[in-house]
Amino acid sequence: MNHTTPNHANNHATFAPRLLTWFATHGRHDLPWQYHHADTSDIYAVWLSEIMLQQTQVATVLGYFEKFIKKFPTVQDLANANWDEVASLWAGLGYYARARNLHAGAKQVADFIEKNGEFPQSVDDWQAIKGVGRSTAGAIVAMGVRSYGVICDGNVKRVLTRWAGIDGDITKSATDKVLWALADTLTPTDESGKFAQAMMDLGATLCTRTRPDCQACPLSADCTAHRQGNPTAYPVKAKKTAKPHRHSLVFAVRHGERLLWIKRQSDGGIWDGLYALPMLMIADESGDMARLPHDLTHAKTAHERTKKPQSPSLAERQVLDILPNLPLKASKTIKHTLTHFHWHLSLVELDIDDDLYRQISHALTAVHAEFYWQKDAQDLGIPKAMIKLGI
Ligand code: ADE
Repeated sequence: MNHTTPNHANNHATFAPRLLTWFATHGRHDLPWQYHHADTSDIYAVWLSEIMLQQTQVATVLGYFEKFIKKFPTVQDLANANWDEVASLWAGLGYYARARNLHAGAKQVADFIEKNGEFPQSVDDWQAIKGVGRSTAGAIVAMGVRSYGVICDGNVKRVLTRWAGIDGDITKSATDKVLWALADTLTPTDESGKFAQAMMDLGATLCTRTRPDCQACPLSADCTAHRQGNPTAYPVKAKKTAKPHRHSLVFAVRHGERLLWIKRQSDGGIWDGLYALPMLMIADESGDMARLPHDLTHAKTAHERTKKPQSPSLAERQVLDILPNLPLKASKTIKHTLTHFHWHLSLVELDIDDDLYRQISHALTAVHAEFYWQKDAQDLGIPKAMIKLGI
């Protein structure tokens, strides 16, 4: 069985009214970026929040959103901001490509406004902005611009596959097409903003991935998955191959009280533009951290043997070359899971003397690295994984 076509026992005409009635009493209406209850909406706030809400829950986003809006009240403020300021406010939210896109996107939006006298208004114009995909563009147009926009993100896909009994693999473009068409059909022309927020709220609070609350759901009367008695069978998704494990040493190079933080340069890595401790990848398979290399020479060799090592940056290489072959002992190891792999980061603490401090500083200056010696990462944009290491 591989139906990708919606089940016509579903009552399409009453879908939106039922959802909107539910939304009126059970939806979220007091989020700082939504002004459904007021006459105005703030396109900048909606765009900013939608970028933050990609892969991150509302509860986490709230605090970050407030800090951002306070520091950068307008899109022009954000466009003119210094990247380090943006990165440090983003620290901890993760998925830093979003922050880079947000900063670059702010410049695009500010340019657009300069040329056209207003924010982008159409889904197409929004999709041209960095970091804004089809669903985010639909959300911004529906909730920010308040014109017609359709969303079909992961939450919406879960609700729709269940309701319509769509059991095609949602990672396939054929299924994606069916879902977008259904979302478009169900979205009311005059209230697409409320509808979008209502769908996301229903998906987040009732039609959840593992424990859907069908009793409370306004859509259960004609929901295919509910009738079949197994809502969690949807959405159907091809089994992913197991994520690989990678292991890295992270060096806390300490001179007195101060640690060495180096800005990662744009080599296409996930941490570009953030400050981090120097690192060395030592294994990309399920290498056992109990067998840590006992000296740095071995670590360097292990790094070279690694199948696809993340190569150290020029700046990191300078530091690693200067560090003596010390016996290494990891004081702690944390696991940080990213989209494509599990990353095990082991913290190695090294106290260095004045001589090494000078050598490292000179070498880093010589390669034009941006770096700081400071006690903690206060005021620096640092990766979430490093925050987890507790430094
Ligand atoms: N996820 C993405 N956008 C969202 C929104 N506006 N509300 C709740 N969750 C979301």
